Amino acid sequence: AARQVPVTATQPAPAVEASPQGSLTIIYGTQTGNSRLLAERLKQRAEAAGLAVRTFRASEYPQRELKNERLLYVVISTQGDGDPPDDARGFFDFVVGKRAPRLEQLRFAVLALGDSSYPKYCEIGRVLDERFAELGASRLLARGDCDVDFEPVAEPWLGEALERARTELGPRTSLATVTPLRSVPVTPTFSRENPYPSLVLANQRITGRGALKDVRHLELSLEGSGLKYEPGDALGVLPRNPPELVAAVLSELRLEGATEVTREGRVLPLVRWLTEELEITRLSRPFLSSHAARSGSGELQRLLTPEGGEALRELLASHQVIDLLRAWPAKWTAEELVGALRRLTPRLYSIASSQKRVGEEVHLTLAVVDYEAFGTRHVGAASQYLATRAAEQDTVNVFIEANERFRLPKDPSRDVIMIGPGTGVAPFRAFVQERAEAGASGRNWLFFGEQHFRSQFLYQTEWQEALKKGQLHRLDLAFSRDQGQKVYVQQRLREKGQELHSWLEGGAHLYVCGDAKRMAPDVHEALIDVIATHGGKSREDAKAYLESLREQQRYLRDVY
Ligand code: 2AM
Repeated sequence: AARQVPVTATQPAPAVEASPQGSLTIIYGTQTGNSRLLAERLKQRAEAAGLAVRTFRASEYPQRELKNERLLYVVISTQGDGDPPDDARGFFDFVVGKRAPRLEQLRFAVLALGDSSYPKYCEIGRVLDERFAELGASRLLARGDCDVDFEPVAEPWLGEALERARTELGPRTSLATVTPLRSVPVTPTFSRENPYPSLVLANQRITGRGALKDVRHLELSLEGSGLKYEPGDALGVLPRNPPELVAAVLSELRLEGATEVTREGRVLPLVRWLTEELEITRLSRPFLSSHAARSGSGELQRLLTPEGGEALRELLASHQVIDLLRAWPAKWTAEELVGALRRLTPRLYSIASSQKRVGEEVHLTLAVVDYEAFGTRHVGAASQYLATRAAEQDTVNVFIEANERFRLPKDPSRDVIMIGPGTGVAPFRAFVQERAEAGASGRNWLFFGEQHFRSQFLYQTEWQEALKKGQLHRLDLAFSRDQGQKVYVQQRLREKGQELHSWLEGGAHLYVCGDAKRMAPDVHEALIDVIATHGGKSREDAKAYLESLREQQRYLRDVY
């Protein structure tokens, strides 16, 4: 995300005394980079206004300084079911825990990020906001709760937060001799707000006939865009909704696609709102509650009460807008509909290439989301768009989403172990390309799994080539459905446990990418087993060992 900030470069800020007292402290906790992006934005503006600012990723914040802080802004997201981002776990536990100091002298405010399709929307921000007040701190500004489409809430909140900070700290008169900071425009940068129209160079199905899954290898051009990425980064893609689905929504509601509708000062025909601007393949909680009221359905309204819990989550996860309209009919006018649906958000895909190898191109590996439910075909907006409608020579709007949390070791002599079943293999293709091009001396070990060897061994020839050239050193495969018993990557981890453990002891970095629900926890368990068995450790000690790898950033996960 840091990549989207430097649209302008600021002159270096004057040296800032590293004391909490006279300065604004900003702490962020981030999983996808959005909180970091917002924290950086606030920092730049506060510095430009002459304020002393200290910014910390939550995991790097010296907790003993909390009691000395005078002015603190926290920008933090909530993951899935109400968890803090990985980098904020320690900070969160410290603040909510018994050992947190009293904070009578502190003025604070919290900007919370989340996803309103989850019941515990912005939970972590909410808990911190209440806890600071409970510890005696005064709230300078009401909490901002940002949905996936965070700008509409975040931007005004940041503006207000900056004003409050200026009033609290005042301009730094002692620095009167320093020339005022000015923003100096550099090259225009394509970003989330200003995506780059990228030409599709190749779009190939890489799963064979007979495979259950349609997996695509895409190559997009970045020529002339100036866009740069690192292995581990993601590509943001602005999708379009499938025309058949838009037509179905229009016909269900008996609305005309040509009707002009205004939202936030923009006028567009309804069909364009539904195709290019608004989310219809995912359901948001506010939309559901508005629909529940309109339909008068007691069943839906009960789901929205605190008892709704799991059933509500299930409904939000499994239904698209069309399913709701069909199962619980209700009236919507074009204006109301456009006003109630949430903005179409970009989809992020792990990048499968290294610029050291492919130059001004970016490659993706994506599985097409396509399933039957409620008697009709359901497709994912972005994957369907990219896979089947983005033909070669079309353009797709994209931007780079940096992912600092998933990086190759800085030291090229370190070994890396990569666990990436399914499309989780994508960033590892980038890793192996990068290390080969950079001439890294460390060894590369890949664990890959899919259903069938014959039809789903993604990038088979490339891996074989890399093995031959000494760019990939070990490859272990788990094809789950080629025999009676399921075989998964974690079984291979256990089988190769002794060697795996010795790589870890030698300083190897461990990476996991792919399914978050089942694969990543199972792999985590297998790693604990391997460390316990081959390190002669108790389970507890093996867990602590893995935890310390995580803290040293030698155990990194990119799971979704
Ligand atoms: P399956 O579909 O046969 O169950 C990529 O999707 C591969 O990951 C497939 O072979 C899939 O197997 C497998 N997979 C499914 N659940 C898994 C789990 N809990 N751990 C590891 N791999 C899993």
